[in-house]
Amino acid sequence: MSDTRINPIGRRDFLGGLGMISLGAAVARGLSASPVEAGQRRKKWAPVSGRKVRMGIVGYGVCRFGAAFGFQDHPNVEVVAVSDLFRDRREGLMKACRCDKSYESLEVLVKDKNIDAVFVATDAPSHARHCIEVLKHGKHVMTAVPATLGSLEDAEKLVEAVQKTGLKYQMAETSCLRDNCYAMRRIYHAGGFGRVIYSEGEYFHYGTTPIASFKGWRVGLPPLWYPTHSTAYYIGVTGKRYTSVSCRGFNAGFDAYKPGGNKYDNPFSDEVALFKTSEGGSSRMLMCKGIHGVVIETGRVYGEKGWMEGTKYNGTMKQLPDISRPPLPPGMPAGGHGGSHGPLANEFITAILEDREPMVNAYEALAMTVPGIIAHKSALKDGETLKIPQYDPPKT
Ligand SMILES: NC(=O)c1ccc[n+]([C@@H]2O[C@H](COP(=O)([O-])OP(=O)(O)OC[C@H]3O[C@@H](n4cnc5c(N)ncnc54)[C@H](O)[C@@H]3O)[C@@H](O)[C@H]2O)c1
Repeated sequence: MSDTRINPIGRRDFLGGLGMISLGAAVARGLSASPVEAGQRRKKWAPVSGRKVRMGIVGYGVCRFGAAFGFQDHPNVEVVAVSDLFRDRREGLMKACRCDKSYESLEVLVKDKNIDAVFVATDAPSHARHCIEVLKHGKHVMTAVPATLGSLEDAEKLVEAVQKTGLKYQMAETSCLRDNCYAMRRIYHAGGFGRVIYSEGEYFHYGTTPIASFKGWRVGLPPLWYPTHSTAYYIGVTGKRYTSVSCRGFNAGFDAYKPGGNKYDNPFSDEVALFKTSEGGSSRMLMCKGIHGVVIETGRVYGEKGWMEGTKYNGTMKQLPDISRPPLPPGMPAGGHGGSHGPLANEFITAILEDREPMVNAYEALAMTVPGIIAHKSALKDGETLKIPQYDPPKT
């Protein structure tokens, strides 16, 4: 691994700057043939409607995620109410969202008929259940990643709820709206890569002890149950699918991965998966906690007609499509994770206003999430190749 990819961040620094991991040193090495820089936001935002979407926001845990996406600063949003199970967190979220109403739980908040849509920023094991609860109450939903944590049953129930209600669902996968991944997506769909022969994505998050979490869900978590920061660099770019996987696990020897050290019976701190893709290529995706000092989320694609690493395109396409990320309303911050938070919130709200599918809808979300669940199963079976279930929209 080139040291240009290493971005050492101590755990304390990480917690202090959560949501603000910079790609910084991770970009461009050994580039050739007229590279083209991915653009920043150049366009000007224009409202698509005068309507305000009435939002509920739930979850203000260790990452303070409920307030991190800037819904409270979007001109088409009114934050009607917030919730967290802990009173002090509820109060913190009310303050951060400039909102004077709160409920003691998501289950109570969803009964408020004055709310159109909910952002679920709760603990990962509850995401699918919470989203289904929101949808069942007739509200659109955006969720923090992953869509489901280790449960195929939850994945099926989630698709069923989305199909039954016809409401909008978006998973807030931050990699999808990082400048490099978004540019890759635009270029792929304009034909600049051709078929993708090979892709890579990685989420390195070194830590000898787990970050705090509600009921300890992060302690000893199977690494590729949290795959979406990586898998976005193929699924989020192409919209294609993974069909099978072989995965290897590694144990860095931290306490959480010792026998009896976690509730998942998981022996791996690190997992590296090789997927077969539906366009005939392969894709290497990993989540590693054991590699000393590395905290980074990035990826790259290599196709028949071009390749891209960091924010530079190298290939046969001379005239690139507009690769700048969609503009944000004035005063709305781009936020953390490479400036992806604001664009994800804006995409969700705009999809509601325009009555269209959001960029990372339930099918894309599960295509990024479920392959990691199967990859972990493969790692437990010493790399056996396993098939990946597919979740497709109904044929119209
Ligand atoms: N780059 C990224 O996309 C990224 C980064 C960090 C965190 N995340 C995700 O964001 C989510 C939140 O992370 P965190 O570290 O703050 O989680 P956490 O476990 O620290 O906190 C979860 C919060 O949800 C609240 N909650 C649980 N059930 C509830 C209910 N029924 N009603 C109301 N509140 C409820 C809990 O009280 C708790 O405060 C996680 O799922 C995590 O995976 C994503």
